[in-house]
Amino acid sequence: MLQRMRIVGGARLEGEIAISGAKNLALPALAAALLTDAPVILSNVPRLCDINSMLCLLDFIGCDIAHRDAHTLEIMLKDTKCTEAPYDFVRKMRASILVLGPLVARFGHAKVSLPGGCAIGARDVDLHIKALELMGAKIELDGGYINAIAAKGLCGCDISFPIVTVTGTENVLMAAVLASGQTRIINAAMEPEVVAFCDLLNRMGAKISGQGTSVLVVDGVKTLGGAEFDISPDRIEAGTYAIAAAVTGGRIRLKNCRYDDLTVFFDTLRETGVCCERNRGDVIVSRGEHDIRPCDVNTAPYPGFPTDLQAQYCVLMSVCSGAAAVTETIFENRFMHIPELARMGATISVHGKTALITGVKKLIGAPVMATDLRASVSLILAGLIADGETIVNRIYHLDRGYETLEQKLSSCGANIQRMAGQR
Ligand code: EPZ
Repeated sequence: MLQRMRIVGGARLEGEIAISGAKNLALPALAAALLTDAPVILSNVPRLCDINSMLCLLDFIGCDIAHRDAHTLEIMLKDTKCTEAPYDFVRKMRASILVLGPLVARFGHAKVSLPGGCAIGARDVDLHIKALELMGAKIELDGGYINAIAAKGLCGCDISFPIVTVTGTENVLMAAVLASGQTRIINAAMEPEVVAFCDLLNRMGAKISGQGTSVLVVDGVKTLGGAEFDISPDRIEAGTYAIAAAVTGGRIRLKNCRYDDLTVFFDTLRETGVCCERNRGDVIVSRGEHDIRPCDVNTAPYPGFPTDLQAQYCVLMSVCSGAAAVTETIFENRFMHIPELARMGATISVHGKTALITGVKKLIGAPVMATDLRASVSLILAGLIADGETIVNRIYHLDRGYETLEQKLSSCGANIQRMAGQR
């Protein structure tokens, strides 16, 4: 049954929100369990549809999965049932591609469906494939599948990415940790999730250095062991609720939010006149009565402004006291929230990679359609400040990346309820 979210705007959000574990760290961390026959214990794992999708795939491959508590999982792959990731899994969650590297590294073969495009763009995996070929895998693309074989194992080598790719970096890391010799990943992603992921692999016995820089060096080892690992807080979730505080003129304490994982983002919010204060391991975000100043943004790989916060930022700019340009440099089609915001009264025009936003006094509630994870949460944010009622349809997109969103927002005073959707 398709579900919808109903929001009645107007409340200033006041209170505190505990930030859940990071989806984009938990997903590679789950895939890393394929690299060893020992148990990998992950805590602070967020309860999300994407996590469930990855768990279903790991179960299909043959992993034993135990839930120690609501947010703690133990995963172990003694021996596989198969080394495949069928289309049905991958089409639901493109991060399934993250099983390719570990399966080839540990078992010497993998058959993984190509993810295909998605709402925000083509999202190729050609760089993942090219990297594994450079490391000695024989790869054939056949019937929508990647058939990879490395009967004699993978060999370490230099891998230079022409563009930064987060899961590409993570896939190559998992291939390299069991490869013979040294692998250097040049132009590697530096996202905090990648840095934390290297920490997990090193706890499992890998030898990775260069974390946080654009050159990662991996000295392959024969086998990896298990590890216990706590998933760090989700900086994109934190940034989303920071904007909820800013747009509603409220004050929210983001519990466990790591300011240093979002410095460019918080610096930008400060430019707009929002107060972002470090406070006892949390961040308090507030905006008084004054206007939201316009501030142009270009998304960029870390440490730049995160593309995953672009849609949310457009909502803030849609009610700013001037005009701002928001440029999306990572994905070719990540403005699908814009026509929906326009239906709520926002004044936004898209010119290639740039959205030109002229602030309006207020938005008007309306029925709108979610299209992808971050676009859907931007419509929720718009509903929080719109006059009247907003109904966001197809909120399964939301449930992929936000744990108990309506509870977290209601606890700060939002008028938001989940409803049964259209037939
Ligand atoms: C990760 O996706 C995140 N997902 C995305 O978060 C995030 O938006 C993205 O990184 C950028 O930060 C996970 O970590 C699970 P990329 P990923 O490879 O790795 C192109 C969310 O909302 N590219 O860094 O798939 C690609 O098309 C999600 O939580 C190739 O052309 O993104 C894109 O334009 C959305 N060939 C750019 O690179 C390749 O082989 C960056 O993509 C790989 C990527």
